[in-house]
Amino acid sequence: MLEIKSITAQQWPQYEQDVLAIEAMAFSAAQCHPASYYLNILNSERQVSYIALVDGKVAGFLFCGPLEMFAQVAGVTDDPHFGQNTVLYDADIAVNPDFRNQGIAKKLKQQQIIDAKTLGYQVIAARNRVKYAHVMWCINQSLGAVEIQHLTGIYKDGREPNACVYNHLVL
Ligand SMILES: CC(C)(COP(=O)(O)OP(=O)(O)OC[C@H]1O[C@@H](n2cnc3c(N)ncnc32)[C@H](O)[C@@H]1OP(=O)(O)O)[C@@H](O)C(=O)NCCC(=O)NCCS
Repeated sequence: MLEIKSITAQQWPQYEQDVLAIEAMAFSAAQCHPASYYLNILNSERQVSYIALVDGKVAGFLFCGPLEMFAQVAGVTDDPHFGQNTVLYDADIAVNPDFRNQGIAKKLKQQQIIDAKTLGYQVIAARNRVKYAHVMWCINQSLGAVEIQHLTGIYKDGREPNACVYNHLVL
């Protein structure tokens, strides 16, 4: 049974190991983050983050926070809504390879859309890397996301293509 569970900073220690393990399976080392990155998001006001549990086992996650806390991420300060506190930024989403193609990422996003609206956000912004995050870009488009910017030369892992689609999903 799939459960999409909101998480808080207090619950982070319980999930930290599983989240970092799934992240390491899903991204190149240069794209992975330290635990403090996730905890920082969970400590932010108006954060929207979830753990996907399948029969109690952590199968995936989605961490998001207000756009303004990601000013160091390429493309973010060029967002036309930057500084307005109206955009929720998709910081990280991944599903354990053993649990993919079962609709878990889509359910995480659907719950996020509901909760983002409740919190007063007007837009969800995301960066989806060309090729490596193509499935995520397809999921985001299926939910209504459109490309805002095409960014190149932003990843430091030496892999090509080194480009991403910066996109908006208007709520
Ligand atoms: C992207 C990721 C999170 C998707 O997780 P998931 O739980 O397997 O995704 P879902 O099962 O919810 O999505 C399935 C959707 O993607 C579609 N899909 C699957 N593979 C696809 C492909 N190769 N091309 C296009 N669409 C594809 C499915 O048809 C389905 O769409 P539908 O619901 O309209 O039928 C997972 O693949 C992952 O962790 N990838 C590595 C990390 C990553 O890229 N994260 C995103 C960073 S921005």
